[in-house]
Amino acid sequence: METNNEPKILMEEIESKLNSINSLEELNNIRSEYLGKKGKITLLSSKMKDMNIEEKKEFGKNINKLKNVLENNLEKLRIVLEEKEILQKQEEERIDVTLPSTKIQRGSSHPINQIIEEIENLFISMGYDVEEGPEVESDLYNFEMLNLPKGHPARDMQDTFYINEETVLRSQTSPVQVRTMLKNKEKTPIRIICPGKVYRRDDDDATHSHEFHQIEGLVVDENISMSHLKGTLEVMAKSLFGDNKEIRFRPSYFPFTEPSFEVDLTCFKCNGVGCNMCKGTGFIEVLGAGMVHPNVLRGCGYDPKKYTGFAFGVGVERIAMLKYEVSDIRDFYTNDVRFLEQFNVTKKGGVTDESK
Ligand code: DAH
Repeated sequence: METNNEPKILMEEIESKLNSINSLEELNNIRSEYLGKKGKITLLSSKMKDMNIEEKKEFGKNINKLKNVLENNLEKLRIVLEEKEILQKQEEERIDVTLPSTKIQRGSSHPINQIIEEIENLFISMGYDVEEGPEVESDLYNFEMLNLPKGHPARDMQDTFYINEETVLRSQTSPVQVRTMLKNKEKTPIRIICPGKVYRRDDDDATHSHEFHQIEGLVVDENISMSHLKGTLEVMAKSLFGDNKEIRFRPSYFPFTEPSFEVDLTCFKCNGVGCNMCKGTGFIEVLGAGMVHPNVLRGCGYDPKKYTGFAFGVGVERIAMLKYEVSDIRDFYTNDVRFLEQFNVTKKGGVTDESK
């Protein structure tokens, strides 16, 4: 009988194929090639329907044997191949615990923000509030109500960017004084500091930037005097730069204060002896200050006969440059990580509170 030979031929074919299986993928292919719905064994079994009983018995037995042999072998092979693949994967993914780890770079707050925070914390501890104002400000608050009417020559000192006739990028944080007084409607005391970004039409160089930071201070109450201003600024100077520093007031001019001063601090480099940094004077200019001009108080609804106040404005970059001996203001904006890393609080040796 011709058909009876076919299981035997298939068996030989299967045996030679089993020997060449190398992966689970190949194994699955062979399984479906022979045992699948349209597999060779399945197709062969369909021939049974044309056989007589005797032939069917014999043929069926051979087909079953064929199936069993194939399934048993496939199962054995599957176990071996699976084991092999797991070992291979383990080998490929092996972790060398002795390798040095990759360095995790941790950021920290920017040196300018660190100075702002340090000054904020100091003034909060003295009972001040922190106020903020918009960077896009009205000409009215940035200039006019600070006693700088349109066409006033002192506007030249602070040429800024105009959005339109009445709106500017603020050239100073002083307009927050106006906003706070208007908001408080003659309530006292006012004790605020206002940190923020300001803009000037300056050409950028080592000491100028068209965009920088200031902190404004304002105190308004009855009987506020120059000695309050001096004492407050002395506390700030010593807290920022050390107890051995002295401050000195030099008469100056700001339209929103009368009298006005520039405030100098003992030179860092020579400690007051006189050197090239302080041009032999022993002092370095750090901020502007004064007693709030009666026109400003009056304009903001505070009777200057009853109330007085002091105000000051600090350039944050200037403080940072002096404190950390940075000679180019642009270093604060280029954000070269090698520069910024020096101020990293999480790093040992960073120029921070932790290292003081
Ligand atoms: N706004 C001034 C400036 O940008 C700084 C300043 C000086 C602020 C004296 C004040 C002050 O509040 O009283 O140059």
